[in-house]
Amino acid sequence: MNGFSGSEPAAAQQDVMLEWARDAGIDEVLEEFPIDRFARSRTPRPRAQPARPQPAAPRAEQAPHTASALADARARAGSAGSLAELREALAGFDGCGLKLTATNLVFGSGTPGAAVMLIGEAPGADEDRTGEPFVGASGRLLTRMLASIGLQRDDVYITNILPWRPPGNRQPNTFEREVCLPFLHRHVELVGPRFMVMLGGTAANTLLKRDGSISRMRGRWYDFRGRGSGDPVPALATFHPSYLLRSPERKAEAWKDMLAIRARLDALG
Ligand code: URA
Repeated sequence: MNGFSGSEPAAAQQDVMLEWARDAGIDEVLEEFPIDRFARSRTPRPRAQPARPQPAAPRAEQAPHTASALADARARAGSAGSLAELREALAGFDGCGLKLTATNLVFGSGTPGAAVMLIGEAPGADEDRTGEPFVGASGRLLTRMLASIGLQRDDVYITNILPWRPPGNRQPNTFEREVCLPFLHRHVELVGPRFMVMLGGTAANTLLKRDGSISRMRGRWYDFRGRGSGDPVPALATFHPSYLLRSPERKAEAWKDMLAIRARLDALG
């Protein structure tokens, strides 16, 4: 008998399940919305090949949790008057579950006030371990790409859409991206770049509130509009360095984008 027999009432089954999870050391909630696996097992299985599981849609009772996390993010980000305060505000923010599994907050690196601000997706294992963005294999490629147009890492400012590593480097979900976005908007305001470079589809789609393919977006300049009513910041979409490591045949296109960055910097004088 495994304690999950169909004859037990659902509440008792859930108690058994919770006890089992506690005994197994599972004591944190990592998804923003609970998944009712009992409901799933009650649903008759289709005969055809089952579709890939989709994230559960938000239900009415989950909305306040989401709304309060977003409100908290906006309030904390909005009240940060400096990068140091913004970092502190992020460190104290508990509205994104990724913080629970990450080792370090990865805030940003480089020179505040730099003309160009690069924005990636999320920290990987090396960044999570060190607390610095783009220090692993894709970071080394990014350093070489910058050097190819005469830039050192300290000539730019670098951060990510998400400051915490998603477990196993999975793609960040919509909620995680949106709840961290107020901090990124404030980050851009405080760094004050003349233009931005969006590294990869997650960065471009999150910042531009789109759902496009990076292959089609790359090489194009967009207007990034943050929270405030100020002028938009020009933002170039390009491939993510980790994609270039997997698909070196796309480096020629990325090189064109690097030249566009160089030309834009030169035009600033
Ligand atoms: N990939 C990213 O998008 N950001 C990092 O900091 C490292 C890898």
